[in-house]
Amino acid sequence: MSHTILVFDSGVGGLSVLQEIRQLLPGQHYHYLFDNARLPYGELEESELIRGCVALITPMVAQLKADIVVIACNTASTLVLPALRQQLSVPVVGVVPAIKPAAQLSVRQHIGLLATPGTIKRRYTQELIHRYADNCRVELFGSSELVMLAEQKIAGMPIVPQQLQKLLAPVCQSSMDVLVLGCTHFPMLKTEIHQVLGEGIQLLDSGAAIARRVKTLLGNPPQLIDTAPETKTAAAYYTAAVISEGLKQCLQQLGFGTIQHVCKH
Ligand code: DGL
Repeated sequence: MSHTILVFDSGVGGLSVLQEIRQLLPGQHYHYLFDNARLPYGELEESELIRGCVALITPMVAQLKADIVVIACNTASTLVLPALRQQLSVPVVGVVPAIKPAAQLSVRQHIGLLATPGTIKRRYTQELIHRYADNCRVELFGSSELVMLAEQKIAGMPIVPQQLQKLLAPVCQSSMDVLVLGCTHFPMLKTEIHQVLGEGIQLLDSGAAIARRVKTLLGNPPQLIDTAPETKTAAAYYTAAVISEGLKQCLQQLGFGTIQHVCKH
């Protein structure tokens, strides 16, 4: 039996998580909801973020009869999980920046967290660092510009290398050996980030760990054959008034047969 899985983010970042889940659990019904009308979430007022996410996701879960919801957004996960779990009876999986594995992996005991300005300043993140990386020096970098660069790339627009170099200059100057990509948009730029930072810094994200968590929560469903993208079984829903042709094309290539606007509430 296949399951209905709803993956949520502010923009294209959650697709990095969806791809990991889909690889581990092919043949399920995938729905991708992204709130691009209010992107970037890293700049959003906390109360508005919580209210908006609950108002958008709750009716969608009912409408789709989703078996599980994945909040594939670190920024939202730092705030909205308790409120969402209160409203929903299905499991809600959040994303946690890979601080714990990074601290274990770092030989120099010096790591970095690259995330949105929202994630960087949350108590949730401070507690995570305190709990799992107390033995390390942890440097924090917040950037919404990087989020927008990932959006640009997925929409098919070129990325100017100098722009990325400028944004990552503070990371380049550090002597860390592991950098956590604590925003789901950033794995979309992994190749480009790696090119700028070089071999000396290992990049870590949480996509594969989230996929394993989803598989466990669904009771380790049997392997099914993924017929997408040929039959385009996945559906994507966005909240902005319009989306670019480039983004539409990218979603189609990823196997989304339905690409539809929904109201942001
Ligand atoms: N992809 C999101 C995250 O993981 C949020 C990006 C944004 O909207 O600022 O944090």
